[in-house]
Amino acid sequence: MLSDRFGRVHDYLRISVTDRCNLRCLYCMPEEGMEFADSSELLSYDQIVEVVEAAAELGFKRLRITGGEPLVRPGLDGLIRRLKAISGIVEISLTTNGILLARQARALREAGLDRVNISLDTLDASRFRMIARRGGLEQVMAGIQAAGKAGLGPIKLNCVLLKGINEDEVKSFLRLSINHPLHIRFIEYMPIGHADEQWRRSYLPLSNVMDTAKELGLPMAPLSSMTGNGPSENWAFKGAVGSFGLIHPVSDRFCASCNRLRLTADGNLQPCLYWVDELNVKPALGNRGELQELFRRAADIKPENHDMAAKLHDNALSHTPTSRRMSQIGG
Ligand code: GTP
Ligand code: 5AD
Ligand code: SF4
Repeated sequence: MLSDRFGRVHDYLRISVTDRCNLRCLYCMPEEGMEFADSSELLSYDQIVEVVEAAAELGFKRLRITGGEPLVRPGLDGLIRRLKAISGIVEISLTTNGILLARQARALREAGLDRVNISLDTLDASRFRMIARRGGLEQVMAGIQAAGKAGLGPIKLNCVLLKGINEDEVKSFLRLSINHPLHIRFIEYMPIGHADEQWRRSYLPLSNVMDTAKELGLPMAPLSSMTGNGPSENWAFKGAVGSFGLIHPVSDRFCASCNRLRLTADGNLQPCLYWVDELNVKPALGNRGELQELFRRAADIKPENHDMAAKLHDNALSHTPTSRRMSQIGG
């Protein structure tokens, strides 16, 4: 069992397999893209398996594959099959933008993938093009359907709320949860790697989601049982087929219950999403004891909490504790 200085037990590893993506979402990557890691800098699938074998012995049980967009890296189903076979690993999930999901869902399921979380910030095609800076809403919808058919549920949709951009769609997303077996998660926009005026203008606390839910006039109740390892607070309308969740790292941080470490595609262990220190695993490859020592050190240097909210008030907007953009961490 890997505990940190604050008694938090870590059993959830988020593994980014690429920093590349087929979209350019405005909250994640600059429009012109980024300087992507050369493929020679990425951990190979063999190396990822080796790191997870070391982590599993320390008590990591649940894995999430992230990117960039993980489905742009070829052969992901093969990696998932190998990770699922590691003793102690009980669940593997994937966070994807859904663009390539329709054609891969079945193979991923057959390889042992348990479930998917799919990013979807709007139900309107032209708005999708504005937020993701590329088209693709129809492909994402096809991906959601294919994931359902393949048995990759419960399917969660991640909707980052952006002031003046998609806040008017909260009601439509909430209604989706009534008639469809989908779990809609509203997420506060985080200033990861770029805290600037655009972030401050577009950030929206989630308090208004509950107000909008009440406007629908249906009874609702918190959900105590929802498959998941993340920070979402979950609710459902009475009689609804689906449910909805709130992820509010900025207005009400959830660091006290943090159970996860992150492995970036270029081989760095990150103790926290919003923290500068990271530990490179590459020098430790080939030595399980050293790899496990790195995990222990990552837990040791993990901060008690982050202070994203400070960026709403102070003047040092551009300074964030990490220079990595979200696409280089995996959320
Ligand atoms: P489940 O296992 O289904 O609960 O997944 P998850 O919520 O852990 O994963 P997902 O990749 O879908 O993340 C949803 C949102 O939560 C993303 O915006 C993540 O960046 C955010 N998130 C996940 N973990 C953390 C965390 O430790 N800190 C912060 N601040 N945000 C997080
Ligand atoms: N703030 C909040 N969520 C973000 N995501 C990407 N960038 C941000 C951000 N700046 C979300 C994506 C995806 C998940 C991995 O993180 O929408 O669903
Ligand atoms: Fe790509 Fe996901 Fe970042 Fe959008 S949020 S640019 S889909 S990695």
